[in-house]
Amino acid sequence: MSVSTSRDGRGGDCGCPRAASQEGDGAGGAERRQNAMSVRLRVWRQRDPQDKGGFEEYDAPRLTPDMSFLEMLDVVNEDLQREGQEPIAFDSDCREGICGMCCLVIDGVPHGPGRGTTTCQIYMRSFVDGATITVEPWRARAFPVLRDLIVDRSAFDRIIGAGGYNSVNTGSAPDANATLISQARAEEAFDAAACIGCGACVATCKNASAMLFVSAKMKHLNMLPQGKPERRERTVAMLKAMDDEGFGHCTNEYECEIVCPKEISVEHIAFLNREFLRSQVITTGLRPAVTEE
Ligand code: SF4
Ligand code: FES
Repeated sequence: MSVSTSRDGRGGDCGCPRAASQEGDGAGGAERRQNAMSVRLRVWRQRDPQDKGGFEEYDAPRLTPDMSFLEMLDVVNEDLQREGQEPIAFDSDCREGICGMCCLVIDGVPHGPGRGTTTCQIYMRSFVDGATITVEPWRARAFPVLRDLIVDRSAFDRIIGAGGYNSVNTGSAPDANATLISQARAEEAFDAAACIGCGACVATCKNASAMLFVSAKMKHLNMLPQGKPERRERTVAMLKAMDDEGFGHCTNEYECEIVCPKEISVEHIAFLNREFLRSQVITTGLRPAVTEE
């Protein structure tokens, strides 16, 4: 859990007010001040998992359009701390769209406006000056709120622990041409491997289903020769773990694909369903073997 403040305290190219003030009264600084904007925030505040929680409102003045959404929250938190109030707790790490830590529902949409984008890559220019912006945590039974905007996503870790790995020792990295894999298959596996485990797919789904996440994590292993020996057990174990964690089932709503910052396709879910059926057929002995995909 982290309570976020500015990462390095130096500003730089981010466009935050601190950076602008360091630029002095030059033309760049004047232009930035001219573009200043402000918003009003409705933020979910919750002391701990037992607290009922509720929305609180904050003014966020002195913003610039090229400030990121998380930098805006940093500025609000600095003001809150100066006034002796509790800062808003939210998760972030890389702030580059890589780690999947930043998980905010902004105006009802996980990761906010824009396609293929994480919360940390949303900029204030996506909002109208003077707008009221509602910020909430991921909402799902399997992702309990820990504090304010931070949720516990360890359910994803337990799904991975159930089968999202190869248990054979593969040694050091082999030569790229030692195991022949077609370009098409490698690309498909790589597309699935792009999942950063953020959980937006769960947060947007009316069933809180984790099928997009599970399908991506399963497929990038099952598609490749190294992952094939355990594909049957992996598929069944990961789906069972998903059910055990309290995630819902997929009813083909497709919102998950729309909010996914890595644009993971729902076609992976179809692959997962086929893998599951094959695994069931084989493990229950209905047929000795089925055609490999
Ligand atoms: S499938 Fe997309 S939305 Fe779901 S966890 Fe992976 S990256 Fe996030
Ligand atoms: S902070 Fe890492 S993806 Fe947003």
